[in-house]
Parts: sequence; C-alpha cells; structure tokens
Amino acid sequence: MENRRVALVTGASKGIGRAIAIRLAQSNIDIVINYNRDLEGVKKTQGKCNRFGVRTEILQGDMSKEEEVNLVFERIVDRFGKLDILINNAGITKDGLLISMKGEAFREVLEVNLFSAFYTMKLASRIMARNRFGRIINISSIVGIRGNAGQVNYSASKAGLIGMTKSLAKEMASRNILVNAIAPGFIETDMTDKLDDKVKEKILEEIPVKHFGKPEDIGNLVNFLVSDEANYITGQVISIDGGMNI
Ligand SMILES: NC(=O)c1ccc[n+]([C@@H]2O[C@H](COP(=O)([O-])OP(=O)(O)OC[C@H]3O[C@@H](n4cnc5c(N)ncnc54)[C@H](O)[C@@H]3O)[C@@H](O)[C@H]2O)c1
Repeated sequence: MENRRVALVTGASKGIGRAIAIRLAQSNIDIVINYNRDLEGVKKTQGKCNRFGVRTEILQGDMSKEEEVNLVFERIVDRFGKLDILINNAGITKDGLLISMKGEAFREVLEVNLFSAFYTMKLASRIMARNRFGRIINISSIVGIRGNAGQVNYSASKAGLIGMTKSLAKEMASRNILVNAIAPGFIETDMTDKLDDKVKEKILEEIPVKHFGKPEDIGNLVNFLVSDEANYITGQVISIDGGMNI
C-alpha cells in the first residue's frame, strides 16, 4: 500500500477547515476530518476529499475537551498508525466589549481556540517525534496580532496560539517537527457572514487588494507550508490578508 502522509484537520465541517482538508487531499494526503456537531457538513467535506482517492476518516470530538481529543488520537493511531500533519483550525467567536463580557464567554473561546491546540499538539508531538517528521499549522488571526475592539477573548486566544507556535517550534525543530501559524484577515465563511453589512464595508476599506479572502486561499497556504518546499520554515506567523496588516 502507498505510504501517504496523514493529516488531522480540526473543525473541518465547513469554512476554512473544509477547504484545507480538500486541498491536502488533492496533494495525495490521507485526511482525518474532525467535527464537533455538524455531521451533514463533515460528510460533504469527506465526499469532496474522497474524489482524490485518498483515505479519509471522520472523527467526532469536541476539541476543547481533553478526554475527547485523547479518544480522537487513539482512533488515529488505530486506523493509520501515525500522524504527520496537524492543522489546528477549530475556532469560535463570542464577541462583546470587555466591560460587559461574561467570564464564561472568555473561558469558552479560550478553551475552543487555545486549549484545544495544547491538547492536540501534545499528543501529535509525541507521535511525530517517534517518526522524526511532523508539520503543525495553527490557524491564528490578524486579530491575534493587531487586536480588535469587541474581541478581547478571541484576540487573546489567537495571540496565545502565536506564542505556543513559536515555543513549540523551538522545542521540536531538532526532531524535524516544524510548527507555524497562519494569520488570516477577513475570509468569507459563516464566521464572518454574521457581521453586519456596515461593518463589512468598513473592513473592506482597510484591505489594499479590495476584496475579501476565500477559504481556498488558506488551503493553498497550508498546502505549501506542509509541503517539502517549506522545509526550512518554522516558528513563523504568515499573514494572509490582502495586505490588511501591512
Ligand atoms: N473567517 C475568517 O475571516 C477568519 C479569520 C481569521 C481566522 N479565522 C480562523 O479560522 C478558523 C476557521 O474559521 P471559519 O471562518 O472557517 O469558521 P466557521 O465557523 O465556518 O468554522 C469553524 C469550524 O470549527 C468547528 N468547531 C467549533 N468548535 C469546535 C470544537 N469545540 N471542536 C471541534 N470543532 C469545532 C465548527 O464546527 C466549524 O467546522 C477558526 O479558528 C477561525 O478563528 C477565520
């Protein structure tokens, strides 16, 4: 049997996660497609990945819960015997100004966006270290670099991911495990669709290329960063934002 690389994409039932899964499948990588609630969405992701003839496995699990992450990894090892690529994509927003933000909204966003990556990276690093190969990509955000009014929780989680990326890159580089973060600007998905049109117009004014990004743009960058062409890149935060963060 062909020895393909195996990738786990968290939160891949739609949006950016789905586009990443499909792009990696197109590069002949076996895909573990994680989802939390949306079974219909994740089946659509799987159907699109299957067209490229790779092995795919849907694994349900709330990535903010350590015991569920542990089960997902047990199943990956059972089924594939290894994990080469980890894409931490699962994420949520719970926006509001700090003065009125409930502790629960802060905690929940940190748990889904940041703790999840702690749990997955810990288990993935062990498997990858044994194989002397690993590529980890954390989907951060421009907001983790610049901040954003109404998103103290989200920006804290995304800035946290950047810190974790840099530290783990230093810890694991000698074992050929490369760890990078991506900082998307405004990408057209359900997450950004819920913003009102006035807000979208204002954001558009800030984007030099004058259009929003597509999930496929992120898929292409992830595909490059996990490829052999990016073998000398680690600990970096790559912005992909149409120039918004210049
Ligand atoms: N859309 C943007 O403009 C943008 C910009 C910067 C960063 N991002 C980041 O990109 C990632 C994907 O966002 P998107 O725009 O595709 O959003 P989305 O809402 O369309 O998708 C989020 C995905 O995460 C999954 N998810 C949520 N909680 C989960 C959990 N506990 N366990 C497992 N999966 C869970 C959802 O089911 C969904 O599949 C997020 O981390 C987001 O913060 C998005």
